[in-house]
Amino acid sequence: MSILVTGGAGYIGSHTCVLLLEAGYDVVVLDNLSNSSPKSIGRVEKITGKKIKFYECDILDKNGMRKIFKENDIDAVIHFAGLKAVGESVAQPLKYYENNISGTVCLLEVMNEFNVKKMVFSSSATVYGMTDKVPLTEDLPTSANSPYGQTKLMIEQILTDLAVSDKEWSISLLRYFNPVGAHESGSIGENPKGIPNNLMPYITQVASGKLEQLSIFGNDYPTKDGTGVRDYIHVVDLADGHLKALDKLNTTKGVMIHNLGTGVGYSVLDLVNAFQEANNLKINYKFAPRRPGDVVTCYADPSKAKKELGWEAKKSVVDMCRDSWNWQKNNPNGYDD
Ligand code: NAD
Ligand code: WQD
Repeated sequence: MSILVTGGAGYIGSHTCVLLLEAGYDVVVLDNLSNSSPKSIGRVEKITGKKIKFYECDILDKNGMRKIFKENDIDAVIHFAGLKAVGESVAQPLKYYENNISGTVCLLEVMNEFNVKKMVFSSSATVYGMTDKVPLTEDLPTSANSPYGQTKLMIEQILTDLAVSDKEWSISLLRYFNPVGAHESGSIGENPKGIPNNLMPYITQVASGKLEQLSIFGNDYPTKDGTGVRDYIHVVDLADGHLKALDKLNTTKGVMIHNLGTGVGYSVLDLVNAFQEANNLKINYKFAPRRPGDVVTCYADPSKAKKELGWEAKKSVVDMCRDSWNWQKNNPNGYDD
């Protein structure tokens, strides 16, 4: 029996493949490589000493996916494949709705055809919208601030409707907070195209000299130092949450929802300071105006995942900063080196 990992060549997917292989699963990866490099697959194989069966395939391509399900005995799907740039989704909403939503519907139809009815889905803390009710619990109302966020909400709804219509489905919706860090080997990590939108890759590229200066968006927020607060979570902890969710699907029907965060909020300045200390480096930064659409403070209540999945984040902010830098230092141009 194999686990199909859609988007498995990407940042979170590749780290999850490492843990799956180490836990003894057979892994099949489907990725169209629109935001990743096939080199990540080779690196995962090198870390683990095990093989991945890789298919370059799009989740919009039903025939391509049928071939994968025919050729492999798939037990469950971990579904990472999707576009994730919030700003781009505002500029090109149809691209996001087609890729993320139509793609997911195609995947679900093929899963139904082959009677594979277990899925772990990558949702996001973005579904909590602009709320200031922290820590965020899974039962809070949801809303979207962008077409990207809307795709996560809609897919959560589609999966919920599916599980109501057919009681055989077991579905895990994992709401990630802010994934950072990299595998401790420094050989796989986040590989943003162009100038990064997210804080940690921006910091690492300033540290490496690729970018000149970090702009800290807003220092007048009602937080301890005026900068925005987020729940940064090490990608290896996040990956581990998928294995715990997968286990749980074997004994649970219907839909379950869990936050994957540490439960601790760090400000932008906290993260910059932690990075400087962990790596003994200076980060050149300036304060800049607030970024439109940013929430002030966002961190998880992760207790439901602890209670129901037996999962909790173990790695510290120092681990996150050290491992992010180790990846960037070893691979200044990501997988293009
Ligand atoms: P990523 O871009 O590194 O990985 C996504 C992968 O999906 C890429 O390898 C890409 O090539 C592939 N892909 C995209 N569209 C596809 C399609 N139509 N067919 C086949 N493959 C396709 O991103 P990531 O950070 O690893 O994110 C994985 C998932 O987690 C995404 O669904 C994302 O929305 C979600 N998520 C990410 C974050 C984050 O901050 N990184 C936070 C919350 C949720
Ligand atoms: C973190 C903090 C910024 C860059 C995004 C998506 C969310 C989820 C995770 C997918 C904020 C500040 C940032 C910079 C800065 N992705 N910042 N200078 O916005 O919390 O979440 O990624 O689901 O949907 O919106 O993450 O890393 O962009 O920002 O000061 O150059 O860093 O203002 O306070 P965010 P981020």
